[in-house]
Amino acid sequence: PTLTYVEANGTRTEVDVPEGWNLMQAATANGVDGILGECGGSCACATCHCYVDDMLAALLPPPSDGELDMLAHVAAERRPNSRLACQLKATAAMAGAVLTLPETQE
Ligand code: FES
Repeated sequence: PTLTYVEANGTRTEVDVPEGWNLMQAATANGVDGILGECGGSCACATCHCYVDDMLAALLPPPSDGELDMLAHVAAERRPNSRLACQLKATAAMAGAVLTLPETQE
């Protein structure tokens, strides 16, 4: 599916994410600077923090206990729609969804 990443400075990047990839992996592979992914996707760094739109929120399973633990440590403001992109797996139904990125990841 094609998803759009919107960085804090307004830069929008459309990324065609292979199904089954996680949304951190797809962003870092496509030069989206607003996601760092320092731990490589093992839910241990909280530098893949993103804000999901309503469409994505409705499609995603709720965060695991591990994701919730790390969400408590995000550098930027945590919001009700905060998620860790490495824990979100792309599915075809996500086409058109938008992730907004926080001003800082560390
Ligand atoms: Fe480290 Fe997501 S990449 S928690």
